[in-house]
Amino acid sequence: MKIFIDTANIDEIKEAFSWGFVDGITTNPSLIKKAITHYKDKGQDITLENYVKNLLVTAGKGHSVSLEVIGNTEDTMYEEGKLLFKKFNGIAQNVVIKIPVNPETSENGTHNFDGLKAIKKLSADGIPVNCTLIMTPSQALLAAKAGARYVSPFAGRIDDYLRFQNEIPFTKSDYYPKDGLVVNDKILHDNTIVSGVSLVQSIVDIFKNYDFATEIIAASIRNATQAQELAETGADIATIPFPVLKEMIFHHKTKEGMEKFTDDTVEEYKNIFE
Ligand code: G3P
Repeated sequence: MKIFIDTANIDEIKEAFSWGFVDGITTNPSLIKKAITHYKDKGQDITLENYVKNLLVTAGKGHSVSLEVIGNTEDTMYEEGKLLFKKFNGIAQNVVIKIPVNPETSENGTHNFDGLKAIKKLSADGIPVNCTLIMTPSQALLAAKAGARYVSPFAGRIDDYLRFQNEIPFTKSDYYPKDGLVVNDKILHDNTIVSGVSLVQSIVDIFKNYDFATEIIAASIRNATQAQELAETGADIATIPFPVLKEMIFHHKTKEGMEKFTDDTVEEYKNIFE
């Protein structure tokens, strides 16, 4: 399984890449806003183009960096995707264009299929696309058919939705059981999907049936347990926020064991290292 970092914060990205196991970066407009606000609040003068270049160089060749379009029609997304790729891919040959599976924001709009159309055109041009905001297995299937290089199902947001619909209070990092929550003898579900992990599992199963080349990026990951359960699904990639990556390395008994080994190290053994 590849591990990406889900952030646009350059300090987090630099530190995470120094750990040696991070394979890529995913960003979106909200993550860029969070990072830019953070640095501006600290009094730093940010030029976004240079900032993006820095992300690409930090990741380096062979480590993909997803950059999202901001339009919501086939033409705007296609043009923006080409522009982002042209402007930035020369730096480290690692740009992936993020396109929402369905960019329509109004009830009776006419742009429901524009994401898929833009994916088809960008992919035909040889530009790799990460299809984002996937909330159902059907959306993932359509994105794969359109030629997406990656699909990004949002596990955590499905868990949020199930809790929200059923008025269950929660905080963002709360664990949600992968096999679902039973309330009043009924399992909560969204059209049979009982959790974010089950959404990813369903997509993994569908893609295996048809041998799609599209890779699955499990996204919107909220805690280390969910990251572990997503790895069990066989998803190709998990894109993980910095605090969750930090949570994944910790265990009380590891710390306790380390303290004991340190205490027990005898002088004779220390001498070997001198
Ligand atoms: O990669 C998708 C991710 O950034 C969304 O995460 O926590 O905002 O649902 P979240």
